[in-house]
Amino acid sequence: MNILDVSRILDYTVDEKLLETYFEKMLASIDKNMDVFIEKYPHVSTGNKYVPKDNKDWTSSFFVGMAYLAFHATKDDRFLRNSEVWLKSFNNRLENNIGLDNHDIGFLYTLSCVALYKLTDSEKAKMTAIKAADRLISRYNKRGKFIQAWGSIGVRYPNVKIIIDCMMNLPLLYWATEVTGDENYAEIAKTHAITSSQTLVREDASVYHTYMFDPISGRAIEGGTHQGKYDESTWARGQAWCVYGFTLSYIYTKDPLFLDIAIRSAEYYIDNLPKDYVHYWDFAVSELAPEMKDSSAASIGAAGLLELSKYVDEERARLFDKCATIILQELCQGYFIDTNDSGYGLLREGFYSLKKYDEAMSWGDYFFVEAMCKLKNKENDLLFW
Ligand code: GLY
Repeated sequence: MNILDVSRILDYTVDEKLLETYFEKMLASIDKNMDVFIEKYPHVSTGNKYVPKDNKDWTSSFFVGMAYLAFHATKDDRFLRNSEVWLKSFNNRLENNIGLDNHDIGFLYTLSCVALYKLTDSEKAKMTAIKAADRLISRYNKRGKFIQAWGSIGVRYPNVKIIIDCMMNLPLLYWATEVTGDENYAEIAKTHAITSSQTLVREDASVYHTYMFDPISGRAIEGGTHQGKYDESTWARGQAWCVYGFTLSYIYTKDPLFLDIAIRSAEYYIDNLPKDYVHYWDFAVSELAPEMKDSSAASIGAAGLLELSKYVDEERARLFDKCATIILQELCQGYFIDTNDSGYGLLREGFYSLKKYDEAMSWGDYFFVEAMCKLKNKENDLLFW
């Protein structure tokens, strides 16, 4: 790691009081939005305010997950009051296969159903999540040893890809093995993680966003990008997905390969932090020629670093924990959308793609809440993933 980065992180003064104030503001925002996002869900904002959307996008579970984190943090039933409606909505989506021809089933059903099961023991939530895991493994390509990211099964070259984001979808499968005893789910998850480590992760632990495969032979063809600046650049959110995703695969498998990737990709993430600790949307962008930020990459990175800090040596643990705390403080000070109105996001300046940026992103809000909860309540952290 760059020695200058390390000392600037260790010398930074954390303002506990400020973090406490924003924790309360964050809860107040979730509380206000409980009446806005009942049948419809936030995706990407317009003018920092969300237009609630039907349950059909990859993002529909993030507000649900925020409410469940708020419930876990406060034990206040107000945050559970929509859970029946949400469960019905996610069950209906699965039954009718609405927008599920992709790997994002993991994001959707981990936060809507596994989280609810972990909090309340809901049998219905558990059964729905297991069915979702079944659908996710139906996307597994045995020859290539990967879970296909996008499109229906049967699409051909050049449309068959894996993407780094998928590492966050694997916990649904590890969890399904835990509750059913069927090893097949975890085996597929682990095999996909190994394939990702051999293709998406570069020598220096930076990542490709995508990797193309031939679905017939299973042959890995080439790395590329979908939302990054160019194929060989490092899309900031992809690097954050890598840090958190490989940490999660390590937690479930204890395979040291995954921990090694999580650590090295975290160090790469930290080495590329700009002055205010909130990444530009791609690491190819710097202060020399600044472009848009991605606050969502920052919040995912903070959550990932906090989780990873539990599994590394003391020195790294201190560094990762402190770096995550600084990212959160900078997000609170410079990016938090401070309003008393409902329907607004938590963080401004998220970046979705070159067509949609400088807005609140529902996943950025979710991981901000997750990281703030992890920081506040280290003893009582409940991992939904
Ligand atoms: N998983 C989609 C994205 O990060 O934009």
